[in-house]
Amino acid sequence: MHVLSVLLLVAGFEATFATVCPVGSHRYGKACYFVIKELKSWYKVQQICAASHASLAVPNSSEEQTFIWELLQREFYPDGLGNGAWIGCNDINQDGVWNCPLRGGETNAYQNWGEGNPSNQYSGADCALIGDRAGGIWWNQYCNNHRYATCELAIIDYDPLFCLQIGSSGRITSPCLTDNHVLMELQAQGLVSCGKACLSHPKCSSFNLKDQGQGKMVCQLNDLALQNAATEDVVEMENCYGLDL
Ligand SMILES: *[C@@H]1O[C@H](CO)[C@@H](O)[C@H](O)[C@H]1NC(C)=O
Repeated sequence: MHVLSVLLLVAGFEATFATVCPVGSHRYGKACYFVIKELKSWYKVQQICAASHASLAVPNSSEEQTFIWELLQREFYPDGLGNGAWIGCNDINQDGVWNCPLRGGETNAYQNWGEGNPSNQYSGADCALIGDRAGGIWWNQYCNNHRYATCELAIIDYDPLFCLQIGSSGRITSPCLTDNHVLMELQAQGLVSCGKACLSHPKCSSFNLKDQGQGKMVCQLNDLALQNAATEDVVEMENCYGLDL
């Protein structure tokens, strides 16, 4: 009961906490960006981004374009990004009508096509890439080609962000403690509420936040810190985020 009232109190302040991008991703404006360093089709990287609550990046200004381009240059230094990296723009629905979906359903005015692009010479070349040269000018290709990609995680859409690991596949991974160490379990608003609940419990050393989808989260307070846990007490679980106090 005590903890629940703390949770309610904290809920009102959630937005005031500074948000830090997950480990391996990079902040620009109101989003965290991370690069998929495996070669995948446009459809596949779209799924990989979505699995981390993100979407394929869409540069919406020359500043954002430069940020993404420089990020790609750093991530692929010194080899370069070869045949480019997928972004969200595509004309899959209607050939020649390019759609660059932004957060909140807008489409962007900014475009950075190279000369002669987008090319409609080949139907099926429906997806856009940031190229390796000249500040990352865009060109279009078959969506089934395997390329790198950049995902964009909107901070406003997804609150519980701090110190989460991103695996090489782009998925958020984070070890959780097994149920043996749970002191109590409650519904939570997000990582911050769960962390506060742990702080207010005298025996709590770490917590698991289990994202059950559709905004439902379970917060488990643990009597043991993850860093002190034996290997058999730690599990890698999809949608479970474990953090030490
Ligand atoms: C995209 O850019 C336009 C024009 O600058 C701006 O009005 C809009 O808010 C931007 N949208 C996002 C999601 O950044």
